[in-house]
Amino acid sequence: MPCILTATPFRELGGELIGIIEDYKNISKRRWAQDRLNAAVAELERSNAELQQFAYVASHDLQEPARKIQAFGDRLKAKYSEVIDERGLDYLDRMQNAASRMQVLINNLLTLSRITSKAKPFVPVNLSDVVRTVVSDLELHIEKTGGDVEMLPMPTIDADPTQMRQLFQNLIGNGLKFHLPGGKPVVKVYGQVLNEACQVMVEDNGIGFDEKYLDRIFTVFQRLHGRGEYDGTGVGLAICHKIVERHGGSITAKSTPGKGATFVVMLPVKHPSRGEVADG
Ligand SMILES: Nc1ncnc2c1ncn2[C@@H]1O[C@H](COP(=O)(O)OP(=O)(O)OP(=O)(O)O)[C@@H](O)[C@H]1O
Ligand SMILES: [Mg+2]
Repeated sequence: MPCILTATPFRELGGELIGIIEDYKNISKRRWAQDRLNAAVAELERSNAELQQFAYVASHDLQEPARKIQAFGDRLKAKYSEVIDERGLDYLDRMQNAASRMQVLINNLLTLSRITSKAKPFVPVNLSDVVRTVVSDLELHIEKTGGDVEMLPMPTIDADPTQMRQLFQNLIGNGLKFHLPGGKPVVKVYGQVLNEACQVMVEDNGIGFDEKYLDRIFTVFQRLHGRGEYDGTGVGLAICHKIVERHGGSITAKSTPGKGATFVVMLPVKHPSRGEVADG
């Protein structure tokens, strides 16, 4: 029987040892509970890994059929548009729009599942360089909206460079996208080092949201605004959340409807697993 033995010396008033009180506590119940807890944790880890694998395989294997729907739709349009009536062409357009949305969705899901499965080692990353690259990638989009992205110098931290780019791409992209009707989006990106952590802010002057939905927006497929108003799949912030989590940081936001939103990201400046692949 598994036991814990506690031995207490028993002394006379003068301090002379006259005996030892031994107490045996049966810990079989405690051990049983611990074993059950360990088994539950192992089972959770297994089912989590299985889900990750499922998400990866499903999204990876769905890429091909989605591409085919798109490609055959293109051929149908190019070769047979004269024999298809207006209604048929409208169906074809809708089918192709749905297929291209499906491709975006699949790619986003793949990005999400690759955050841990295709993780790269942490290396020193200059966040100002990352933001400059993202702004240059978004240049056409910024021009189209007549908006602007302002940036203050930011620190260098231990991070996965690709994932930092994905993080800022999503946050700045959202800041530009969710702008007030008729308004020009201005996104400000700035950061500072507080103790051992780097605090990054991505602030916009857009439509904002009610903070009571804060938890929801970081969950995959959760959107607060209709697809008719603002395009999107609802995966971007789930990607941000997973990236930040893998880096040992946190992400939250402050907002008031109609008065813009500020996303606040905390990331450790130094990472113990620098040079190795860290799992989130
Ligand atoms: N800067 C922002 N201002 C106002 N609402 C926002 C902002 N960023 C995100 N949201 C809200 O949170 C929801 C989730 O954001 P998320 O980036 O995950 O999805 P999305 O931008 O709609 O689609 P995707 O990123 O997949 O293209 C958005 O649909 C929107 O309702
Ligand atoms: Mg988004």
